[in-house]
Parts: sequence; C-alpha cells; structure tokens
Amino acid sequence: MGHAAMRIRVFAQSPEDYNAWLAHQRQPALPPAAGAAANGAEVFREKNCVNCHSISGLSTKGRVAPDLTHVGSRTTLASGSFANTHENLESWLKNPQSMKMGTRMPDIGLETDQIKDLTAYLEGLK
Ligand code: HEC
Repeated sequence: MGHAAMRIRVFAQSPEDYNAWLAHQRQPALPPAAGAAANGAEVFREKNCVNCHSISGLSTKGRVAPDLTHVGSRTTLASGSFANTHENLESWLKNPQSMKMGTRMPDIGLETDQIKDLTAYLEGLK
C-alpha cells in the first residue's frame, strides 16, 4: 500500500564528510540525563516501542521498524513522507495512520504528556 511513499533522498558529500557521518551513525545513542527526554526514554520502554524499534545502547531487539538510534538527525520521517519537524514528530506519535495511510506503525494510544516526553527524547537522538 505504501510503495509510492517509499522515498529516497540522496545527499552528495565529499568522502571525508561521508566517512565522518558514517562514523557518527555507528555510535550508540547517549542516554538522556534528566527532564522530559529522560521521561521519554522510560515511555519508550513502557509502551513497547522496543518490540518493533531498536536504539543502539538500549537493550532493544525490535527489527521490524526503522532503527531510531539517530532519528533526531534525519531530515525526513517515515521513508521520506514528511519533514522531520517537532510538529510532524508529535503528529506521527499521536496517530501514524493520519500521517501515512497504510503504515505498519499502529496508533499506540499515547497521552499528550507521553507524546511530549517521547518527542524530546527522539529529537535528542542526533
Ligand atoms: C508494531 C510495531 C511498532 C511499534 C510498537 C511502534 N512502531 Fe514506530 N514504526 C513502526 C514502523 C513499521 C515504522 C515505519 C513506518 C513507515 O515508514 O511507514 C515506524 C516508524 C516510526 C518513526 C519514524 C522513524 C523514521 O525513521 O522514519 C518513529 C519516530 C517511531 N516509529 C516511533 C515509535 C515510538 C516512539 C513507539 C512507541 C510509542 C513506536 N514507534 C512503536 C512500527 C512500530
């Protein structure tokens, strides 16, 4: 159903810039120290996001959805469906189906505070 929405954005970089990007992408995520982002990391575990998603550095095993280790550094979300902005990320967590018809990410039924904390956490994963 979503094949037309599997977009790819190509970035042309010098070998040096590419290698620096690659080295960074291979680093595990740093755990947030405190505040909303730290709460978001808890929600991420409690709400079973870990069953589908991996974040390197957390004990996550999910392999059926995108790896989120550096999701905050992406320019787009959901295979290039929309820009990776604060508002779009919140809308995605609130109701993925309304952002991308037929997506395999279910509506988790998150509360507003949980969405805010999760957004802070995910945005920090650069
Ligand atoms: C049943 C499996 C499943 C669960 C549970 C799940 N997701 Fe997802 N998620 C997906 C799939 C599949 C995609 C890819 C969607 C697409 O591109 O159509 C996705 C995409 C995402 C994206 C966009 C990533 C990117 O690189 O484009 C974010 C952010 C995200 N999920 C966060 C979460 C959070 C936070 C939770 C828990 C509250 C969660 N997901 C729970 C399956 C899941």
